[in-house]
Amino acid sequence: MPTLTLTNFQITPLDAPLGAVVTGLDAAKPVTPETILQLQQALRDYHILIFKNQTLNDEQFLTFSFNFGSLFVPPDNVPVLASKPGVTPVIIPVANVDGGYTGTGELAFHSDHKWTPYPSSGSLLYALEVPSQGGNTSWLNLNLAYETLDESTKQKIANLQLITYNPFLNQPGAPRSKYRFDQSIPLISPVFPHPLVRTHPENGKKILYLDYATEVEVVGLDPQEGSELIQQLRQHLHQPQFYYQHQWSVGDIVYWDNQSTLHYRQAFDPNQRRVMKRISLAGSRPF
Ligand code: OGA
Ligand code: MN
Repeated sequence: MPTLTLTNFQITPLDAPLGAVVTGLDAAKPVTPETILQLQQALRDYHILIFKNQTLNDEQFLTFSFNFGSLFVPPDNVPVLASKPGVTPVIIPVANVDGGYTGTGELAFHSDHKWTPYPSSGSLLYALEVPSQGGNTSWLNLNLAYETLDESTKQKIANLQLITYNPFLNQPGAPRSKYRFDQSIPLISPVFPHPLVRTHPENGKKILYLDYATEVEVVGLDPQEGSELIQQLRQHLHQPQFYYQHQWSVGDIVYWDNQSTLHYRQAFDPNQRRVMKRISLAGSRPF
């Protein structure tokens, strides 16, 4: 069984608040059940896995990804990156070339699909072309962000529900609000409140389930009180001690737990090419 004997397979934790590097594994080939289980456990422990030196066609990328779950599909009336009514690409080109998404600008710390009823459990982002500088991606450990809150804040937020408004419904170019003060603005799409303190569905750890810049609202709180609380929590979570910054190499695949992390992208030079492909996996209703 030569293709399945992975003598060099190694999972090496980073010296960072999250992340482990996986070497000696060819994701284009069938992976043993033992290896898949080890990788699943490693994702729970380290939140992101960085696979080095991969060369995969689309079919191989899909086959590898679906070892960890099935495809994320949003409801038809809830737009997400790259979706058209009723259709979301299976593999999303995250690229500053024709047909690609996200451009070349900075992307604030966020978790994907948070405004949907069942946000994705994770995504795999595969780097095909990378700029010589800039365009690094950082991932932030939301379990650590929760654990380091003071006890009174933990008590205060324990049972709160948060609505995250869908950024894909914003008018292009319109100023973005980080908190919804004007509750009289009519909603053109359903909203899905989720717990502000989420429990990880696989390991039971508590997660501060909040991103950095998307418009949100704490259910049942006066807007002034709610926005101050959110501002305080966002200030807390945005600290270097909670995140790892990844400089991409061609052939990297980063598989992140989208439930327990946020991610951020640095801007990069529009004259350089950055070409990646993303597959997102289905998640469950946050509790
Ligand atoms: C994404 C994303 C970050 C990046 O694909 O969801 O946020 O580094 N990408 O391109
Ligand atoms: Mn993203």
